[in-house]
Amino acid sequence: MSAKHHILSVLEKNKGKNVSGAKLAQELSISRNAVWKSIKALQKEGYSITAVTNKGYCLSEDNDILSSQSITPYLADNLKELKLEVHKSVTSTNTLLKELAGQGETEGKVLIAEEQTGGRGRLGRYFYSPAKTGIYMSILLRPKLTVEDSLSITTLAAAAVAEAVEKVTGCEAKIKWVNDIYCHGKKVCGILTEASVDFEGGGLEYCIVGIGINVSRPTGDFPDELKDIASAILEKNIYSSELRSRLVAEILNNFWKYYAVFSKKTFLEEYRKRSFLIGKEINIISGEKSQSGTALDIDDNARLIVKLSDGEIKTLSSGEISIRPV
Ligand code: BTN
Repeated sequence: MSAKHHILSVLEKNKGKNVSGAKLAQELSISRNAVWKSIKALQKEGYSITAVTNKGYCLSEDNDILSSQSITPYLADNLKELKLEVHKSVTSTNTLLKELAGQGETEGKVLIAEEQTGGRGRLGRYFYSPAKTGIYMSILLRPKLTVEDSLSITTLAAAAVAEAVEKVTGCEAKIKWVNDIYCHGKKVCGILTEASVDFEGGGLEYCIVGIGINVSRPTGDFPDELKDIASAILEKNIYSSELRSRLVAEILNNFWKYYAVFSKKTFLEEYRKRSFLIGKEINIISGEKSQSGTALDIDDNARLIVKLSDGEIKTLSSGEISIRPV
């Protein structure tokens, strides 16, 4: 870890408190002037750090910049070595991580961005990803699973996110099959899982789970086309500065808790508990076509079981569903 990152890590752990420059210098075996240079560099990156003579340096409590140093303190002990990489702005964390995966990056790499300029959603849609108010993250996995079994990874991620949202923010989080998280009756998070198949081996080469969350309302609100369908977890723009860091960490904690015992499918209970389609009158949308039916259940492979209006029972592995107003 560089001196700058070490200093940031100490300041994050002591947010709102003074940290002695002399002590930092001693700990890192560098001069006080070198500490000062690192502080200057951090300030230039936007960190709000005050320097008070004879007291030291203090990272402001309302400093809200995502960094691996701000996230790591909230990670479970067995995840402290996860390879987190945080960027200010990228096109898409999924696209970037795909490139890294192609270059041989290993399982457990997590890319996080403050902003995406080309955020991607399912079915070729774009995902609005403004700076500061959201979380945009992608996780690289190299699971030894068949393509069919790996479909449940999205389900696992949805359960992990919903559970984390509720724990960290106190907002009730529901899941709309297959992978949208809803708070206050509107979508606050979408998940895009992309995989590369190993044709010779018949399994997966890698799998990237991309998670996009609207934490608070963007400045100037959502674009018009999203206003009716999208929302933010926190309706008001007031939240504690470490909330996004805590949320990222809690999602990763839950994700790995479930992923470590993937074959036991322990995430399904959480997923079913939070699913709000069961028992609802729905439309199954496929391109221009739409079929009506009733959502009956979610099976052990996270597929949606639907009774169509003509009585036929259909099991869906993927697709788009809308709820029919009663
Ligand atoms: C959807 O709702 O259709 C899925 C949205 C997924 C968005 C996330 S944000 C992080 C990752 N990078 C992307 O470009 N997309 C996913």
